[in-house]
Amino acid sequence: MINYTNTISVEDYLELRAAVDWAPLVKDQAQSGIDNSAFVVACSEDDKIVGCARMIWDRGYIAYLADVMVKPEYQGQGIGRKLVNECISFIDSQLKEGWRVKIEMVSAKGKEGFYEKLGFKLRPNENEGHGMNLWRQ
Ligand SMILES: CC(C)(COP(=O)(O)OP(=O)(O)OC[C@H]1O[C@@H](n2cnc3c(N)ncnc32)[C@H](O)[C@@H]1OP(=O)(O)O)[C@@H](O)C(=O)NCCC(=O)NCCS
Repeated sequence: MINYTNTISVEDYLELRAAVDWAPLVKDQAQSGIDNSAFVVACSEDDKIVGCARMIWDRGYIAYLADVMVKPEYQGQGIGRKLVNECISFIDSQLKEGWRVKIEMVSAKGKEGFYEKLGFKLRPNENEGHGMNLWRQ
C-alpha cells in the first residue's frame, strides 16, 4: 500500500539519492538537512521508501524546494506531483494576512517540464535572469 508521511529516516533518504544517481552525502550532513527542513514528505510502499521532497523556509518570504526524488521504477505515476504539491500546500498553510512567499528551486537537467506543470516559471525570462549557485568544497 502506498503511504505518505512527514518524516524520513536518513537511511531512506540516502537510499533515494543513490536510486536517482545523485552524489552521496555523509550521514551527519544528510541528517542535518532533514532535521532543519521546514517540511518533509516521504512516500513509501509497504514500508519501502519510494520518494521524498522537502521544503526549506526562512519563515519569511523565501522558501526553497529541494530533494524531489522518486525511485525510477515508480516514476510516471503522479507521485512526484503529489510530493511537490504537499510541499506547496505546507507553505500555503503558513501564510498570514498580507504575506507572500516565493518558492525557489533549481531544476535538474531535463526536468523543467515537470516543474512547469506544477506552476513554476522557467528562468531566465523577460523579467528574470538565470538561477545561479556556488558550491563550497
Ligand atoms: C522529476 C521526478 C521527481 C518526477 O517524478 P514523477 O513521479 O515521475 O512525476 P509525475 O508522474 O508526478 O509527473 C507529473 C507530470 O509531470 C510530467 N513529467 C514528469 N517528468 C517530466 C519531465 N522530465 N519533463 C516533462 N514533464 C515531465 C508527467 O508526464 C506528468 O504529466 P501529466 O500531469 O500531464 O500526466 C522524477 O523523475 C525523479 O525523481 N527524477 C530523478 C531525480 C530528479 O531529477 N529530481 C528532480 C530534482 S530537481
